[in-house]
Amino acid sequence: MIKNTLFKAVEAGAAELTRYFNGKFTISSKATINDLVTEADHASEKAIFKIIQENHPDHFILSEETGAVPTNSNIKWIIDPIDGTINFANGIPICCVSIGVEENGEMIMGAVYNPFMNELFFAEKGKGATLNEKPIKVSDKDNLLTSCLVTGFPYQYLDSENGPLQIFEKLIRKSIPVRRLGSAALDLCWTAAGRFDGFYEHKLQAWDSAAGFLIVQEAGGKVTDLKGEKYNPYQPGIIASNGKIHDQLLSLMKGGSL
Ligand code: IPD
Ligand code: CA
Ligand code: CA
Repeated sequence: MIKNTLFKAVEAGAAELTRYFNGKFTISSKATINDLVTEADHASEKAIFKIIQENHPDHFILSEETGAVPTNSNIKWIIDPIDGTINFANGIPICCVSIGVEENGEMIMGAVYNPFMNELFFAEKGKGATLNEKPIKVSDKDNLLTSCLVTGFPYQYLDSENGPLQIFEKLIRKSIPVRRLGSAALDLCWTAAGRFDGFYEHKLQAWDSAAGFLIVQEAGGKVTDLKGEKYNPYQPGIIASNGKIHDQLLSLMKGGSL
């Protein structure tokens, strides 16, 4: 039942992305000038809420644009109605709807759908991860120096020790390819599918990673915080990898050299 609702919800949200894409829509800034929200973000969120609340009116919802809609339920839906809003607003088809489902504080299911590539990533705890219903698994590269990585940068630059630019510089100075797609949820799913060997980012929100981190784990990968501890989407930092390069990436994030 939850799985059914999850699929219907990501599809309903994605239908709004498709409807507005490259058309006319309002765009406004949030906390910083380039932290955008569009009419499509709100439309996607509304469509997703409708499906979830029709099917599970008692469930807790946490969504980027609305915030928390708390209930006493032990089931929480964590929603990013568009992950990759800057891409979306510029007509770049690298964006998606991301929804994770948490039960008693543990992520049990996640779906990420990019309608422009017709790619639906899904995972259920203990049951593996899929892309368009076919099983996916992480890559098997074991050397960070020959890995293909992806990262993202926060809207407000973090000027901290071992911050985004320092890590990026170390990797780039070693000629390691580091991509920047602009959608953390897709960064995670593409790592799960073996397109990237690893992903790291310093500051994410729960809705950016809720679905994607489970998808990486279920595809056989490893996800931790920046200290190497068990990942928790309510804290900012993330390292997600195929497992084999994890310690190398972790040591770099802690200030180590390459
Ligand atoms: C953003 C994207 C981006 C990441 C930012 C997120 P949004 O989400 O996931 O890749 O670097 O930290 O905020 O604003 O497009 O939903
Ligand atoms: Ca996001
Ligand atoms: Ca968003």
